[in-house]
Amino acid sequence: MELKEAFETLGEIVDRISSVYIGNEAVIRKTLAAALVNGNVLFEDYPGLGKTLLAKALGRVLGLKYTRVQFTPDLLPADILGTKVWRQNLGTFELIKGPVFTNVLLADEINRAPPKTQSALLEAMQERQVTIEGETFPLERPFFVIATQNPIELEGTYPLPEAQLDRFLVRLRLGYPKTLRDEVEILEARLSWRKDDPTADLKPLIDRETFVEMQELVERRIFIERALLEYIAELIRNARSDERVEAGPSPRGGIALMKVAKANALLEGRDFVLPDDVKAYAIDALAHRVVVRPEYAFEGVTGEEIIRETLRRTSVPKGAEGR
Ligand SMILES: Nc1ncnc2c1ncn2[C@@H]1O[C@H](COP(=O)(O)OP(=O)(O)O)[C@@H](O)[C@H]1O
Ligand SMILES: [Mg+2]
Repeated sequence: MELKEAFETLGEIVDRISSVYIGNEAVIRKTLAAALVNGNVLFEDYPGLGKTLLAKALGRVLGLKYTRVQFTPDLLPADILGTKVWRQNLGTFELIKGPVFTNVLLADEINRAPPKTQSALLEAMQERQVTIEGETFPLERPFFVIATQNPIELEGTYPLPEAQLDRFLVRLRLGYPKTLRDEVEILEARLSWRKDDPTADLKPLIDRETFVEMQELVERRIFIERALLEYIAELIRNARSDERVEAGPSPRGGIALMKVAKANALLEGRDFVLPDDVKAYAIDALAHRVVVRPEYAFEGVTGEEIIRETLRRTSVPKGAEGR
């Protein structure tokens, strides 16, 4: 597959998803960019904003296997990974595969499950493999998790620990529909609600193999110059040295920003990364990795604000302003 074809197909993919998830193309593009680098996505926002809808629509249009796990307080690790059962007649153990054996795993309301179950997903998210009773099984490519969580102020939740947050390539907020027109269009789309799943009629545009090819294009054919790597490195170091920060973005955060910036270049039809690709994703890739000192957090300072200010005081290195 050539870059031009990939670029055009990606445009069609965004359009098709926009036909059911209405009024926020920016978030569709960001989710797709993350998927292109096999990145785990965390949707953090209030209920009813279309998180489940968007995740499902993405899986369908990309022609990927999709499973959904509703996280609840009594969910066990085996409910995600699977278990081995003894088959008397065969004299062997048989693996009953859990929902993790898929391409897109929607971990819905992940902060409603206790930490032990949340962390059962850790190995899968990071290593793309799972260990069940001592035996390791690789997962098919692509594999990524789209987790949703309601903002932590809501009661009865277990906020994700730092180690787990760091494994999400990006954290995205969907937000409320921006215009009255979008709001009306959402209502219109559901005038008939007999078919309660708006994604049911959505046809795949590509298949798994084609999507993997696109991922390879991002990896191999999109160029990022050294000056921009320096820019990313400076961003994360500047965020770390902010006096209000207890723990700043990890190197994994820098890698996440680099990867997703490359994917964005392809989405924009370029074979090279611009500073704007980095800027566009800095908050999404870094803010959730910032731990604000309690005294500042108490005053309402957030990771988002820290990264926004870091962007303002970090200049783009000479030679990286674009071609
Ligand atoms: N941006 C949107 N475009 C189209 N429908 C939407 C949108 N936001 C919400 N909806 C409607 O609201 C319903 C609830 O969305 P859902 O994905 O279940 O929300 P969440 O998972 O965020 O709680 C969807 O089935 C859809 O009908
Ligand atoms: Mg939902």
